[in-house]
Amino acid sequence: MRSKVIVSLLFLVATFCLGFSNVYADDIDTTTIYAEKCALCHGGDGKGTSTGIDFGTKDFTDKEWQASRTDDEFVNSITHGNPENDNYIPFGDMLSEDEIKAMVPHVRAFAH
Ligand code: HEC
Repeated sequence: MRSKVIVSLLFLVATFCLGFSNVYADDIDTTTIYAEKCALCHGGDGKGTSTGIDFGTKDFTDKEWQASRTDDEFVNSITHGNPENDNYIPFGDMLSEDEIKAMVPHVRAFAH
């Protein structure tokens, strides 16, 4: 009986930890995600590589452009790509919702 209680307690703790790590985006390594999945087109400096610019990337360091786009638009674009631009790959299948949300402040930081 007692061991059952301990097992259920451990289970609760484990579930809590898992849930916790999903809620707090701080655990997500946006630098690695950016380097592995985004820098190819957007460049380490956010301005866009020559390949990226050919595809139609915007300059992430451009404050005016940043101000013209909302966080929701960013999340939507990263998740679904741009239906009018085939060169923009949707990341909805490659990154979790939390990872995509965590990329928004990372992209914003280029214009700071
Ligand atoms: C294959 C090249 C490519 C890769 C890889 C890529 N992007 Fe993009 N990205 C683009 C292009 C092209 C656009 C411009 C899309 C448009 O507005 O037509 C864009 C636009 C964006 C925008 C602006 C969206 C908007 O609504 O204005 C954000 C934010 C963005 N990318 C983030 C990312 C992140 C984060 C990653 C990595 C997870 C990534 N991109 C990977 C090509 C790429």
